[in-house]
Amino acid sequence: MKFFLDTADTDEIRQYAGTGMIDGITTNPSLIAKSGRDVFEVLEEICGLVSGPVSAEVTATDTDGMLAEAARLREIAGNIVIKAPLTWAGLTATRKLADDGVAVNVTLCFSANQALLAAKAGAAYISPFIGRIDDMGADGMELIREIRAIYDNYPDFKTEILAASIRTSAHVRDSALAGADVATLPPATLEALAKHPLTDKGLDAFLKDWAATGQSLLKE
Ligand code: E4P
Repeated sequence: MKFFLDTADTDEIRQYAGTGMIDGITTNPSLIAKSGRDVFEVLEEICGLVSGPVSAEVTATDTDGMLAEAARLREIAGNIVIKAPLTWAGLTATRKLADDGVAVNVTLCFSANQALLAAKAGAAYISPFIGRIDDMGADGMELIREIRAIYDNYPDFKTEILAASIRTSAHVRDSALAGADVATLPPATLEALAKHPLTDKGLDAFLKDWAATGQSLLKE
């Protein structure tokens, strides 16, 4: 499973890029706004920090506008992936971009039929928003399972399932169990994946016993 970081905060990206755990970055207009920075400047910096795909979202709502914005975004760096919304205009833009060999992340997916359309349009990634579905009292993980089953029925589909709107460690575990190809995580959720109280307790005991020996693993 690939891990993307869901942030436009370059300090956070810099912190985790060196761990070897981060395969890419996703941004959206809200995350760019939160960064408080110029969109082109911040995306260029992000693309310099990671070699993997960096999703940059169009904001036009018509196909021609999306294509014009996509062309501008693609000038930033070779690892930019165009993010387009799951609307008919977005799907049409996705098809045109895919035909030109451009990777597109189709975002704001809330149903299996929408994911089916994105695969038909040649999307490189489909982003089901599991946290926002949970927020409505429904089961976001069930959508990941449905999309996995549908895509597996049609091996011609090359679209990767990118579990998005992840809020908890359980979302990551369950996305992996359901066969999502990628999970995009806020940095705090990524950090939480490594946490277990028994790990902390066990390490404390080991270090205490080790200190009592007075030994060192490094040559004096
Ligand atoms: C990722 O591509 C999405 O933009 C993001 O995961 C949305 O998450 P949110 O529902 O927490 O805003």
